[in-house]
Amino acid sequence: MRKPIIAGNWKMHKTVAETVALVQELKTLVAGGAQAEVVVCPPFTALYSAGQVLAGSAIGLGAQDMYWENQGAYTGEVSPLMLKDAGCRYVIIGHSERRQYFAETDDTVNKKMKAALEAGLIPILCVGETLGEREAGDTEKIVGVQVRGALHGLSAEQVAGIVIAYEPVWAIGTGRTASSEDANAVCSFIRRTVAGLFGAKSAGEVRIQYGGSVKPENIGELMAKSDIDGALVGGASLEAATFGRIVKY
Ligand code: 13P
Repeated sequence: MRKPIIAGNWKMHKTVAETVALVQELKTLVAGGAQAEVVVCPPFTALYSAGQVLAGSAIGLGAQDMYWENQGAYTGEVSPLMLKDAGCRYVIIGHSERRQYFAETDDTVNKKMKAALEAGLIPILCVGETLGEREAGDTEKIVGVQVRGALHGLSAEQVAGIVIAYEPVWAIGTGRTASSEDANAVCSFIRRTVAGLFGAKSAGEVRIQYGGSVKPENIGELMAKSDIDGALVGGASLEAATFGRIVKY
């Protein structure tokens, strides 16, 4: 059985003080028990403080990106070891905003996947097509290339333990959610792709999230789908009551 996982990607929002207040509220809300594993991904500057508040709680901490070297002359970058040191268990890799605005490629995503796993972090790998690609009927082609590129050279055991987030670019921050059927169809395709590359065991264990305008109103329907094991939530994760309703779908 795959344990559902719902993660909040805060993107470039929240100061340290705002982060501490939000994770404290979330801790109280989730203390009553959520059926899903809950993860928050604040910005780098607030990770350590969030980790201090969350230590010993059921809420996991994740970062939104990282570099693939552990240390060195890479001005401005943050390493996997630094994320571990700050209290992270998860790291988002290859978010479409990184691919779109910061020139991330399947090759750099693959380097980051390997480095994260080597450091003992659990990557949340993001894949997804643009609106043009969907309209051209290329969703599976694009997502297939992204999955194969990101997972190249990993072991079946490593892949079984990661999280993959299917985030159609056209559904991110637009209020336009993929229908639960469309989302599930692509998540199933991702699972079949993993099965073809790494075998049935990895495919059966890897957790696949949907992301893109997830809200309290649509989470239940998404989570009811057979191949959707959770959600990666942007805007709706920035407010405790709203995110609390999502994790208790
Ligand atoms: P929204 O939930 O704001 O659409 O963002 C989704 C996302 O990009 C999560 O990583």
